[in-house]
Amino acid sequence: MDATENRCSLAFKQIARVTNSALPVKKMLNLVAASAAGALQAAGCAVMLLNPQKEYLDIIGASGLSDVYLRKGALNARKSYPDILDGKIVAVDDILTDKRTQYPGHAAQENLKSLLGAPIVQKGEVIGEIRIYTRSKRRFKPHEKDFISTVADIIALTLEKIELYQYLNTHHQSNLTQQKKLTSFSDLPLTPIRPTSFGHPSEAEFARLLDFYQVEWLYEPRSFPLSSQDDRITEMFTPDFYLPEIDLYIELTTARQSLITGKNHKVRMLKELYPDISIKLLNKGDYLKLFAKYGFIPLGENKMTGVQRILFSKTQLQRRVKSLAKQISGDYQGQELVLVGILKGVVCFMSDLMLNISIPVMLDFMAISTPADKSDALIRILKDLDTGIENKHVLMVEDIVDTGMTLNYVLNYLSARQPASLKVCTLLDKRARRLIDVHLDYVGYEIRDEFVVGYGLDMAGKYRNLPFIAVLE
Ligand code: IMP
Repeated sequence: MDATENRCSLAFKQIARVTNSALPVKKMLNLVAASAAGALQAAGCAVMLLNPQKEYLDIIGASGLSDVYLRKGALNARKSYPDILDGKIVAVDDILTDKRTQYPGHAAQENLKSLLGAPIVQKGEVIGEIRIYTRSKRRFKPHEKDFISTVADIIALTLEKIELYQYLNTHHQSNLTQQKKLTSFSDLPLTPIRPTSFGHPSEAEFARLLDFYQVEWLYEPRSFPLSSQDDRITEMFTPDFYLPEIDLYIELTTARQSLITGKNHKVRMLKELYPDISIKLLNKGDYLKLFAKYGFIPLGENKMTGVQRILFSKTQLQRRVKSLAKQISGDYQGQELVLVGILKGVVCFMSDLMLNISIPVMLDFMAISTPADKSDALIRILKDLDTGIENKHVLMVEDIVDTGMTLNYVLNYLSARQPASLKVCTLLDKRARRLIDVHLDYVGYEIRDEFVVGYGLDMAGKYRNLPFIAVLE
């Protein structure tokens, strides 16, 4: 066995012992990172997990790298060596000149030269990465790539084990025996862990709230130097959270005046030194208001009663609607298009879709009454179209297609008026409940058989003004 093989074998022993210990997750991963870096005689190592939206990487364990480097800013998974996310092992000979390096300035300051990255894959899906950094230029050898890839596998297994413990802890054993017998790990509805060690319980609460509203967040991703002396940073400020969707840093505070004064001072300095950075100092009352402002929670929390979980956040809806509108604009280029909606559920979707379509469109609405028991198919038209659609290109816009009865009826009614073409765009498709087969040309999302509300959809007339789509309790 040569010296490297010896070091790798020793590192595996250490990693096995550490991952099998009762240490807190973060400490465990810091030690794994230290062993991995040590085995390859590298300067440092970072273990990162993708956030739930799979856009950013959270550092969940590290060794040998400075705080300034680790908190250099949001690490965008698609900009920073995206091949790793495709499941590849990536060796970078020269970090500073490689175009895939997101923060070359920080890498230069940290004196990093080469990098070896491997994906952390769980059940066939990339959930994170491990990266090894060196301070002299290095060509990584095949056995070093094998080593780091195996360490990534051990981390994937360890995270799965921790998720399993968390699941068993929250679902009492007696509950579990009543459920269907588990035959493999993949039967478990595991929720991926984000082993972030928050500095304060209020931060954990804020993160839970952000998760509930499906708002992307990163915890302390960037430290801002505030003052320095002879090239040495003497004062730093690390805001608690960064919300990439709205490009906003957030520093949480309590009602304690002594804390507020200090934090206010830092926030003011940060604004002066970094005028392009948006930051807010928030207490609990403030952040509830902020959620309202960005449409994540309506003011007056009573409207939220009964909402069990958010299926699609406002941002997700906006993104999806934009991409549908782009597709429609392309498909109908140079044609006269009439959008026809059925009142009232479609109002939010229709208005957002229309605003994002780049070709001229006409608009019309119908209102129909659907009997409570749809099997007797007594659908009546309460309001007909205002204009004729003969020889026009018609796009029926629906909020949700459930049994397909309503759409089938309306499509028959409209096609009798001989439009030039007739297509369907629905935001939601509850395919599992379909009774009549109707063809859908544009679909926002296919959803399970669950009753959903919000973004125009109602339950006995309520919940239409929620800015997101939610499942009721
Ligand atoms: P269908 O005729 O069964 O396809 O029903 C379509 C209509 O039922 C929609 O336009 C909605 O008004 C209503 N609907 C079906 N599922 C839901 C739901 O989950 N939430 C709210 N309304 C729904």
